[in-house]
Amino acid sequence: MADNSNIRFVLFLALLAYAAPLCFSKKSTLSPYFYKDTCPNATAIVKRVVEKAIEKDTRMAASLLRLHFHDCFVKGCDASILLDSTKNITSEKGSNPNRNSARGFEVIDEIKSALEEACPQVVSCADILALAARESTNSSGGPYWEVALGRRDSINASLIKSNKNIPAPNSTFKTIFDKFTEQGLNITDVVALSGSHTIGKARCASIKQRLYNQTGDSKPDLTLDKSYADQLRAKCSNSGKDDQKVFDLDNSTPTTFDNRYFKNLLDHKGLLNSDQVLVTKNNESLALVKKYADDNACFFEQFAISMIKMGNINVLKGSHGEIRKQCNKEARLIKNARCVTFKQRLYNQSGDSKPDLTLNQSYADQLRTRCPRSGGDNNLFNLDIYNYTPKKFDNSYFKNLLKNKGLLSSDQVLWTKNGTKTKNDKKSQELVSKCADDNDCFFEQFAISMVKMGNIKVLTGSDGEIRKDCRKINGNDA
Ligand code: HEM
Repeated sequence: MADNSNIRFVLFLALLAYAAPLCFSKKSTLSPYFYKDTCPNATAIVKRVVEKAIEKDTRMAASLLRLHFHDCFVKGCDASILLDSTKNITSEKGSNPNRNSARGFEVIDEIKSALEEACPQVVSCADILALAARESTNSSGGPYWEVALGRRDSINASLIKSNKNIPAPNSTFKTIFDKFTEQGLNITDVVALSGSHTIGKARCASIKQRLYNQTGDSKPDLTLDKSYADQLRAKCSNSGKDDQKVFDLDNSTPTTFDNRYFKNLLDHKGLLNSDQVLVTKNNESLALVKKYADDNACFFEQFAISMIKMGNINVLKGSHGEIRKQCNKEARLIKNARCVTFKQRLYNQSGDSKPDLTLNQSYADQLRTRCPRSGGDNNLFNLDIYNYTPKKFDNSYFKNLLKNKGLLSSDQVLWTKNGTKTKNDKKSQELVSKCADDNDCFFEQFAISMVKMGNIKVLTGSDGEIRKDCRKINGNDA
């Protein structure tokens, strides 16, 4: 949808996206080409499913755009918003900003299953959110930008941070500004990204306070256009019965991504209090609102820049996090092992071209099919195969050892060791057998040993320091 005047700008953004990893190669590995070899159709697949969803429900564009924002502001753009609650995770879906409000999860699931079919466990849910936000904006008439890819998915979520980091509709200008600053975003980003409210809807519950009791004195917000306020009150009563009714965030062109939102603000017709404060509470943001109201191309340009910036907040890269199979599913608890780490046992345990005979032979045959003598080094295998509970923290690992099915040699020796048995071998055998037998006993001892390990040579009192930035010692800004 970029017009001719924007083509140069799109090229510039593309350049920026490629150049960033070069300039900051140590820090950033995101790249628009990340899936070029591993899933060349990834972007096309996301586009197809998003467009189909918007065709069915125009509002979906807004909902998908918002999901990316609500993801990035909580621990970074890591798809934490998509995880359902489990024993170990309290889902962000239940937070104040998301409950009865965030939508589009089923579209993300549909994109993920289409991608899993095309290229299993390659494209992260965090990248899907970033691409879906771009496609949604662009399909609604908004700008296009190059999305740098390679984000990985979190293995946890934070309900607390979802409640704390995402601004509320009744937040003051200062609170909004502070919450954006905490994410490394500035006032220009606040105003440009608020321009997302050119599409989509908000519930009566989100505007009631300004319609009836803005500051606790039973008076409405006087910065809201009076006839527009009357119109809203007619459908959004104070009683609570209309709380889930929805209203267009942009009353003039509700499904088109354009700069009408900013014109509305200057007409005192911003739907949310958090929209209107951009013109009533701060001169710098007022000037930006006027600029974008005046110049659509300028708004589009800045929106794309700010979206790229937001999409880079604390992303997980390299070996951090994981690639989920299903975007809503509990994260991996137990890691996999790569073929290269146990290949020696399969083919040449002690330099005589013979396999490790303590390894269950049918299990060894099974492993050799995907871990050949040459190649396949990076193929992944579950460390826990016995009860097929690789994602569960339990004592199946010890049961595997009893069956000579420990994946790594260093696992198996705890149970079976060649040569004379020493006192320690015996002790480790006893413990393996005890833990295989009794999950509670394993858990108890695991906790005791973790506490013990966590106490190894710790610095206390006046030793060491409290770092400001965990990656640097204090006073060393190099
Ligand atoms: C500046 C602080 C912001 C506040 C206080 C805020 C607040 C809200 C609220 C209260 C709603 C309506 C929710 C409901 O009633 O169910 C909403 C909707 C929406 N927000 Fe924001 N928002 C902010 C910034 C952003 C940003 C940065 C983006 C995207 C980059 C965004 C995208 C959207 C979209 C597209 C919708 C409509 C969603 C739909 O129709 O499903 N918002 N926002």
